[in-house]
Amino acid sequence: MIRVGVIGCGKIAQIRHIPEYLDNDKVKLVGLYDRTLERAKALTEKYNLIHYIDYHDMLNDDNIDAVSICVSNNLHAEITIEALNHGKHVLCEKPMATNLEDCLLMLKTAKENNKKLLIAHNQRLTKAHVYAKKLIEDQILGDCLTFRTTFGHSGPETWSINPGLNTWFFNKDTASMGALGDLGIHKTDLINYILNDEIIEVKASLETLDKKYESGEPVLVDDNAICIYKTRKGAIGTMSASWTFYGPEDNSTVIYGTKGIMKIYDDERYSIRVFLRNGEKINFDLEGIQTNDNQTKSGVIDEFVDCLEHNKDSVLSAEHIIPSMKAIFASLNSALTGKTIRID
Ligand SMILES: NC(=O)c1ccc[n+]([C@@H]2O[C@H](COP(=O)([O-])OP(=O)(O)OC[C@H]3O[C@@H](n4cnc5c(N)ncnc54)[C@H](O)[C@@H]3O)[C@@H](O)[C@H]2O)c1
Repeated sequence: MIRVGVIGCGKIAQIRHIPEYLDNDKVKLVGLYDRTLERAKALTEKYNLIHYIDYHDMLNDDNIDAVSICVSNNLHAEITIEALNHGKHVLCEKPMATNLEDCLLMLKTAKENNKKLLIAHNQRLTKAHVYAKKLIEDQILGDCLTFRTTFGHSGPETWSINPGLNTWFFNKDTASMGALGDLGIHKTDLINYILNDEIIEVKASLETLDKKYESGEPVLVDDNAICIYKTRKGAIGTMSASWTFYGPEDNSTVIYGTKGIMKIYDDERYSIRVFLRNGEKINFDLEGIQTNDNQTKSGVIDEFVDCLEHNKDSVLSAEHIIPSMKAIFASLNSALTGKTIRID
């Protein structure tokens, strides 16, 4: 039986990692760590787990095979690399890291230690995205010409386990990126995944339009990101990420191909709608996506456990996520310089 620990016991650990480990009978959740000791203590008492007061104790524990890393973005690389060097498999939350060098070092360290490193890109696993990818592979749309993909909600200040305007999500040192790294990474990665393609050119604008600290000063990370992407196969499209959609969440993607149009999570009733050039319309009623207000099982933990149990590759393996991280860092570079950035 695979034995796991969770480092960081905030919102994503509490709604996804901890319950999904507890729900999987191939894995034993052994213990938890959070730097807010009372938070981890309360959870370990509730579920009868070990409470580690230092995460190094967890990494030094031979009874732990794998860890989930659910802390602020700035610590993903450091703790992942430590965990891999202690012989643990790692499931790290997104964004993988805050710069490309760290992403590559994480991957190298996983390979050197012969350990699995998965990044928690749950959007790769939603039923509609998996099915849409298959339909696209089966050429239902012909060749993809353009796309637009969006992820927007009203911001992380009400989401975090420590809510408020001084959340770590708004702090450049701990978050590094704003809406781009929080939401944009999901949709950037989705484009690479769903089109079986790779973003190779980026032009981006990042702005802080509305979010302010308690002091009234604008936050130092972007609250809106608009990126124009070009892919290796020649498609062009837009990716927008926003923390200022003060209404229903938008998690939609539209793909425009030579044979028709596919709309994903763009309609309350049908998760996929296909409109063919010949006039035919096809609706698919699959499970809705996980939203802040509607959390369903992400499947990320089952995928990690399955990957460890069968020693297999996963769509969440770090090497598959690196091209998406390159597009994110290229977007930051483009926004800073005003230039179109070509990704090598
Ligand atoms: N896959 C997704 O859809 C998704 C959704 C939300 C958050 N996330 C990611 O999960 C991570 C955590 O986000 P969250 O929403 O749980 O935030 P949160 O603010 O709710 O919780 C963060 C937790 O990390 C703890 N923490 C911070 N620094 C720590 C440290 N040095 N050591 C140990 N614990 C530390 C805090 O005490 C808190 O318990 C972030 O990287 C975020 O981007 C992913």
